[in-house]
Amino acid sequence: MDKLVVTGGGRLTGEVAISGAKNAALPILCASLLSAEPLRLTNVPELNDIGTMLKLLAQMGVKVEREAENVTLDASGLNNPLAPYELVKTMRASILVLGPLVARCGEARVSLPGGCAIGARPVDQHIKGLQSMGAEVGVEHGYVVAKCVANTGRLKGARLFTDMVTVTGTENLMMAACLADGETVIENAAREPEVVDLAQCLISMGAQISGAGTDLIRIRGVEKLHGASHRIMPDRIETGTFLCAAAITGGEIRLLGTSTGYLDAVVDKLLDAGCEISGEKTAKHESIHIVAPPRLKAVSIRTAPYPAFPTDMQAQFMAINAVADGTAIIRETIFENRFMHAVELQRLGADIKIDGNTAVMKGVERLQGATVMATDLRASASLVVAGLVAEGETHIERIYHLDRGYANIEAKMTALGANIKRVKA
Ligand code: EPZ
Repeated sequence: MDKLVVTGGGRLTGEVAISGAKNAALPILCASLLSAEPLRLTNVPELNDIGTMLKLLAQMGVKVEREAENVTLDASGLNNPLAPYELVKTMRASILVLGPLVARCGEARVSLPGGCAIGARPVDQHIKGLQSMGAEVGVEHGYVVAKCVANTGRLKGARLFTDMVTVTGTENLMMAACLADGETVIENAAREPEVVDLAQCLISMGAQISGAGTDLIRIRGVEKLHGASHRIMPDRIETGTFLCAAAITGGEIRLLGTSTGYLDAVVDKLLDAGCEISGEKTAKHESIHIVAPPRLKAVSIRTAPYPAFPTDMQAQFMAINAVADGTAIIRETIFENRFMHAVELQRLGADIKIDGNTAVMKGVERLQGATVMATDLRASASLVVAGLVAEGETHIERIYHLDRGYANIEAKMTALGANIKRVKA
C-alpha cells in the first residue's frame, strides 16, 4: 500500500485551487438515475469515491462519459436496479442509489453498506422514509430489497420525520420524492450545503422542491425529470483542510474557487485561533485569503449538524490544537467512534486525553515525526496537517483512505511549499 512521507518544515504560501465537493457530487451522480435524458456535470472532483460511484452506475446500465472533471450520465438504458456488495463495501455512499432506483424502476436491491471505522452508520431512516412512501422494504441476505407495492408501481407523497438529522437520508428521500405521486414533506431535514446543491440540480431537471437548506423540505412529485447541466459546488471540507494546513504552519495562502459562505463555523474558530481570513469575490470567481499567526491559540469545538461545526473538520482541528497555545476541549456528537486519529497524533507527541466523545488537549511546543496509520478519510487529512509541522519525517500509511476524498493532495500541498512525497508500495 502507498504511503505519504511528510517532512515538517516552513510556512505554506501561495495559491491552491479547491476541487468540487465529494459529498455533493456523490448524490448528484445518483440523481442521473431519475431521468431518461442526459445529466451533464462539471467540476466533478477526480477522487476514488467518484470512480467507484461511476462504476456502480455503469453496471446498472447508465452510460457514463468522463473527461477530467466533466461527467455526462445517460440513464435511458437503466436495466439493472442492483448495487452489489463488492462495490458498496468500498463506499457507503452507494446507499444513495436506493431512493432514485425505487422512484424510477419501482424496485431496488442495494447491499447494506455495513459499518465503517467511524461508526455503525445505520440506514434505518432511509428505509423508514421509503416505507412511509409506499415501498415494501426488507433486508435479505445483507441486501436492502425495496419494491413499490402501490398498484401504480409509483411511490406516493408522504410526511416524513427523521429521528435525527441525516445528510444522505435527507438526500435519498428527497430524490425518491421527486417522482412520487403527490407532495412529500421532510421534517428535521439536513441543512448541509450539499443538500442544497443536490436540490438545485434536481430543480434544473424539472423537480419541484422548496425549502432545501432549511429543516423542512417540500417536494411535489412529477411524472418524470428531464436532462440538465449542473456545476458541482466547491468542497467546503477540502477548503477547511487547507485553511488548517496554512493555520498550523503560520502561513499565508489563497484558496481559489471556494468561499467562506459554506463554512462559517470553521472560519469563526480559525479567527478565534488568531488567523486573519477574508473572502474575495470577482465577476469570474471567488476565493479565500488566510494569514496565520506564528502560533495559534487553542480553540474548543463541538461538532453538530450544519450550520454548526462540521464533524468532517473535527480531526483537522485536533491536529491544529496539538501545537496551539493553551487547552482545547473537542466534543464529537455525530459519530460514536471518530477519535481514532487521536492515538496516531499521540505518536507524534500530542497531549490528548480521551473520555468518551470528549477529547481534552494541551498544546505542545513541537511534534516529532513518526510512522502513523490513517484510519479514515478525515483522520488521514489530520495526520498530513500535523506532519507539516512535526520535526523530521512523518510516514503516513494506508493512505487509500485519503485518496477517497482528496484529489492529489500531495501535488496541491507541494505547490504551497510543503515537503510531501508519495512512496509507492
Ligand atoms: C454524510 O454521511 C457525509 N457523507 C459524511 O462525510 C458526514 O460526516 C456526515 O454526513 C455528517 O455530516 C456523505 O455525504 C457521502 P448522517 P451520512 O446520515 O449521511 C446516524 C466524509 O468524511 N444515522 O448524517 O452517512 C448516523 O449513524 C464523510 O466525507 C442513523 O442512525 O451521515 C450518525 O450518527 C464521513 N440512521 C448520524 O445519524 C440513519 O438512517 C448522522 O449521520 C442515518 C444516520
